[in-house]
Amino acid sequence: MKHTPKGTHAWLPYLPLSIPQGRSPFEIAQSELREGLKALGISKEAKIEVLGTGDEYELSDTGDLQVRGGPTGVLYGSYHLLSLLKRGAELPKGVVRPFYPLRMLNHWDNMDGEIERGYAGRSLFFRGNKVSFDRERIHRYARMLASVGINAVSPGNVNVKPPMDFLITGKYLPEIAKLADILRLYGIRLLLTVEFNLPLAAGLATADPLDENVMRFWRERAEETYRHIPDFIGFLVKADSEHRAGPFSYGRTHPEGANMLAQALKPYGGKLFWRCFVYNHNQDWRDPETDRPCAAFMHYAPLDGQFDDNVILQIKNGPLDFQVREPVSPLLFAMPGTKKALELQLAQEYTGQQVDLFYQAKQWQDVFSLLSADRVQFITAVSNLGDDPNWTGHDLAQANLFAYGRTAWYGRSDPEQYALEWAQLAFPCAGKEVADILLHSPDTYEKYVSPLGLGFMVNPNSHYGPSPDGYEYSSWGTYHRADREKVGVDRSARGTGLTEQYPGEIRAMYDDPAICPDKLLLFFHRLPYGHVMRDGRTLIQRIYDDHFEGAHEAKELALRWKTLKGLIPEDTFERVLTRFDRQEKNAREWCDVINSFFFRFSGIPDAKGRKIGPSKPAAHP
Ligand code: GCU
Repeated sequence: MKHTPKGTHAWLPYLPLSIPQGRSPFEIAQSELREGLKALGISKEAKIEVLGTGDEYELSDTGDLQVRGGPTGVLYGSYHLLSLLKRGAELPKGVVRPFYPLRMLNHWDNMDGEIERGYAGRSLFFRGNKVSFDRERIHRYARMLASVGINAVSPGNVNVKPPMDFLITGKYLPEIAKLADILRLYGIRLLLTVEFNLPLAAGLATADPLDENVMRFWRERAEETYRHIPDFIGFLVKADSEHRAGPFSYGRTHPEGANMLAQALKPYGGKLFWRCFVYNHNQDWRDPETDRPCAAFMHYAPLDGQFDDNVILQIKNGPLDFQVREPVSPLLFAMPGTKKALELQLAQEYTGQQVDLFYQAKQWQDVFSLLSADRVQFITAVSNLGDDPNWTGHDLAQANLFAYGRTAWYGRSDPEQYALEWAQLAFPCAGKEVADILLHSPDTYEKYVSPLGLGFMVNPNSHYGPSPDGYEYSSWGTYHRADREKVGVDRSARGTGLTEQYPGEIRAMYDDPAICPDKLLLFFHRLPYGHVMRDGRTLIQRIYDDHFEGAHEAKELALRWKTLKGLIPEDTFERVLTRFDRQEKNAREWCDVINSFFFRFSGIPDAKGRKIGPSKPAAHP
């Protein structure tokens, strides 16, 4: 397949790269279905009928093909129908409707075109401090999202950097409205990130949320935004978090700050998404009491019932920060009287940066196995997209976006099914094999990177590559506290008390090292290297074994990929192969650095006699 600077087909190789014609989701659906059936060589007629009002649809094949559904439902139904025909799969029976009403994607793009934690090129929306996009590419982007049911997008970084703070002003709104016009054709609506201190930047004396002028200011911003984008969803805010201003700057509470913004949006039916990533990032590493993963629950749980009904608290899947392995955030179980959104991260910040393969749907399985999907009302994910021709840098990372769309639609985690669907669509000649490679990838990565739930052993800032003490003496509150005897943080009831934030059975499981899942053992417990694990191995031996195994498996993944030559389009095959080569080297590096680190502390040799640490280069023949 030839590269196109406009963005590849991703998992929709049966649709033409040209822009579908239409002025509504219904007309786009007609165009996509017509072209898709033609490309699939299916000569049946397809009828589309709009019934109802929403995203739901029903498919049938009674001689003719039929898609019936709400105005956006017919578009989702059409894409689903094409994908089923392509895979030769059965049509679903009855009405199909999404679990979550908003299935969002949060980009972290800056207006200079850089993407915070972006690993696939530059922004699709901004360039040179302007709103700037390629219309064709946005059509393709929107089609790709709509094909998996994503219906809401925030283009800008939650760390709002100038001039993005002025995006919700007349200077930029006409351009943003043009973006919204294209997205609307695919049933996608916009959210915008806002800066809490915008009133100050705009010349007001304060941004205090209880100040009358500040309230009026935000009402005007909301009014103007809705004038340009009538179906605007609302604002997304990162406040009092990692150097961002917020209500605390004015001695106010988070309900006071959030409700004020929500009230400005209320007349238009708007929503305010308020991130809960709030913790002390100026911690002293010598302070054993302050424990970062405890912070969000401690702050927000007592505030249940105090937020307006159009405020939604947006909570990361884990209590720390998108690490390879984390327990589910306890805040997701709390606050029954408050609306919540689950935030996942597709951008592979800590999971290989789209160089190493990491299929994330398996990670989300942890969330959904403990948290019933209806604990949260909305779902979002930090985007892994950029303007690289293949969208995601690593071609196989597209599977993460696809699986997220499916997860958000069904409110259910089914990594095997989503991997297979994606792989069969993207690589019809090697679907099963590619799906299997994806499914093995997170385990492999976790083994060579993250010992038993310890996180943050990465190089500071970039968050890539091994650096066991990278954050150990810093202010970010992310310590593993390894010494000669022990490693890990005691977060049980006897330690920092994180386990006490969980409901009954989960609390009991995490609190007791004898039943705590191995993969979270050092997240919750501080244990001696000689601690005997359930499988009879010592803790230190398990660390060594995992790392050797992980490095070996990374090599195997590359070898398995090589067997697919000829079954995968040549340029994709080569691109992915290059990434696997890099991954193999990375895995070796991780293995050697982490194992050496623990060997130096513990002084305990590997029971299997493998070489740890510096070794003589192979002798010349
Ligand atoms: C992480 C990430 C930051 C990001 C932050 C957030 O800390 O490294 O780049 O801004 O999460 O979620 O707000």
